Formats: sequence, C-alpha cells, structure tokens
Amino acid sequence: MRVLVTGGAGYIGSHTVLKLVGDGHEVCVYDNFSRATRESLDRVELAVARSIPCIVGELSDGERLSATLREFGADAVVHCAGLKSVEESVERPDLYELNNVAGTERLAEAMVRAGTRRVVFSSTATVYSPAAPPPVPEGATIGPTNAYGLSKWRAEAVLQRPEIEAVHLRYFNAVGADPGGRLGEAGAGSRNLLPILLSRLAAGRTDVDVFGLDWPTPDGSCVRDYVHVDDIARANVLALQMPLARGRALAANIGTGRGYSVIEVVRAVERATGRALEVRERPRRPGDIATSIADVRLAADRLGFVARYDLDAMVSDAVRWELSLR
Ligand code: WQD
Repeated sequence: MRVLVTGGAGYIGSHTVLKLVGDGHEVCVYDNFSRATRESLDRVELAVARSIPCIVGELSDGERLSATLREFGADAVVHCAGLKSVEESVERPDLYELNNVAGTERLAEAMVRAGTRRVVFSSTATVYSPAAPPPVPEGATIGPTNAYGLSKWRAEAVLQRPEIEAVHLRYFNAVGADPGGRLGEAGAGSRNLLPILLSRLAAGRTDVDVFGLDWPTPDGSCVRDYVHVDDIARANVLALQMPLARGRALAANIGTGRGYSVIEVVRAVERATGRALEVRERPRRPGDIATSIADVRLAADRLGFVARYDLDAMVSDAVRWELSLR
C-alpha cells in the first residue's frame, strides 16, 4: 500500500514508518516538525537504507494535505500527528482543540477531496471515563478528564464520514524503543514514568518519586497497561488492511491486557540497568487513577493483534536506547 503517515517524525509515527517500510509499503511522511526533529527520519532512512519522502506541512493546511495525498497517490493514512501532553492540554485546551480536532477535520476533508478512504487514527485510552472498571472495553463509558483526551475523542468523531473508513486505535501506555536499537523516544521533557526514570538515572540520580503508595492496588502504587511501541507500530499496520465497510468506523484498544504497577516498573528498570533505585513516596498526582488496563479481545478478534512484549522487554529496549544517546 501507499501510506501517508502524519506525524511520521514523532515517537509512534517514526516507529510506524519503520515497520511499514520494513513490510514493503510505500510511505510518505507529513510533519510540521513542531514536536519532532528530522533526526528520527534520518534514523529510519539509515535503518531501511533508502530515503523516505517527507512533506513539511501543517494539519491546518488543507490544500497542502490534499495535494500531498493526490500526488503521492495515498491508499491510506496513518494519522499520528497531534499534541499529546496531558499537562499542557490542561493549560492550553485551545491549542489541543485547534491542533488535534480542527487539524483532524482538515485531514478528513483532504482525504475526501483526494479520494483516500482508509485512515488509522492514533487515539488514546484517556478518552474513557476514570469510572470505567478495568479491564476497559471499547464500549465503556467515554469521559475524558482533560483537554488531551477530549481532543482525541472529538477527533475520532470528525473522522466519521461516509467516504472514510476509520480505525481508531486507543493506545494505552506506550513505552519502549525499536528492539533493533535504531530508533527511540526523545524523552526529554516527558512527564511519563519510564522516560522520567531513565533521565534521572542518566543524570546520576537513583531516587524516584512515586506519586502515591496509598492507592487501592496490590502494592499501593498505580497500575497501568504498558505496551511496547513496536507492538503499537504493528497494530497500526494491521489496521490498514482490516476489513471495514465504507463509511464505517471501529475503535480498538491497543494494550497487553496486563497491568504493571509503578513499583514493578521501577524494579524492571533495576533489573535492566543493574542499578538499585530508592523509591520516595510523593503525594498523588492530580488526575491520576488507580488502575488502567485494556480489554484487548476486540483487537485480537478484528485486527488479529496480540501484544508480544512483556515489561522486561519494554524496559530493556528503552534502556538500550537511552544508553545509546549518552
Ligand atoms: C504512569 C504512572 C503516575 C511519573 C499518560 C497520559 C497520556 C497517555 C498515556 C497517550 C502514573 C506514575 C509517573 C513519575 C510516578 N499517552 N508516575 N512518578 O498518566 O498513565 O498516562 O500516558 O495517549 O500521555 O495519559 O502515564 O507515564 O505519566 O504515569 O509515580 O515520576 O506513573 O502517577 O500512576 P499516565 P504516566
């Protein structure tokens, strides 16, 4: 297939480009490089030993999107472009509405104009209500508690058009790096657990802040469904060719169906690095929930997707990448 990957220079996008090219698809990247650098694509090109066409453009530029889709002859789009910081979305909800919702609307319009029917959308588990009991199925109550999750839910809605077949992949907690060590996350500035732990270690620190040890979970720390970014990339590729009636949409959870606590992640980092870490209990982080785990049956049934990596594999790939940057 000929696939346009928006946000193809980003964390999920670049791993998806690597997987697509590796599987023999033709790829064109569309990115504004506001939150990513050209370096990710350079690494992909090095890994696949060929250049990847890349158009520098904004999601707001509908004409450029249409022209890109037409000139590239896109059969499908994997839509990864978007802002993804919960914290930033709370401070700047307008930015998330503009970029994630209006930007997706421009893309939908451009796809209709260009006659590109399939889109795989990088959605998120944060669309669900915190009250949804784990494991969370796709039909669970929708109730995002921040502008980031709301923008992704609204973006799913704007992709609902008779001319478009949309597969919304609701990623749980994406972690890790390319198992071949060729690519990874630019974790600087991330608020997410694993990048924070690894940047602390890289700075020579061994103390880790755990936001609450009084949660109703087995060890008192929050439980999340961490999923390897290489698994996510494979799910994106599978979703491109999943049978779907014209004008129909499907949402599927992408996770492992298994939760790991913050303490378990800390211990996995100790195993992967051989370094002892000191856990320091901190107050709960506003907006956190005790447990988030995916019901993964629909992705298995409809996509044929089952996650392959366990926590130790996710952490060791992330550690290898982090060490390669030093
Ligand atoms: C995981 C757990 C923290 C840092 C995020 C966002 C969103 C989504 C998934 C894309 C929580 C705890 C963290 C630290 C800690 N991404 N923690 N000490 O909040 O589950 O979800 O990722 O859709 O970005 O919703 O992930 O990695 O921020 O936190 O104790 O220094 O680790 O309290 O329980 P989260 P996270």
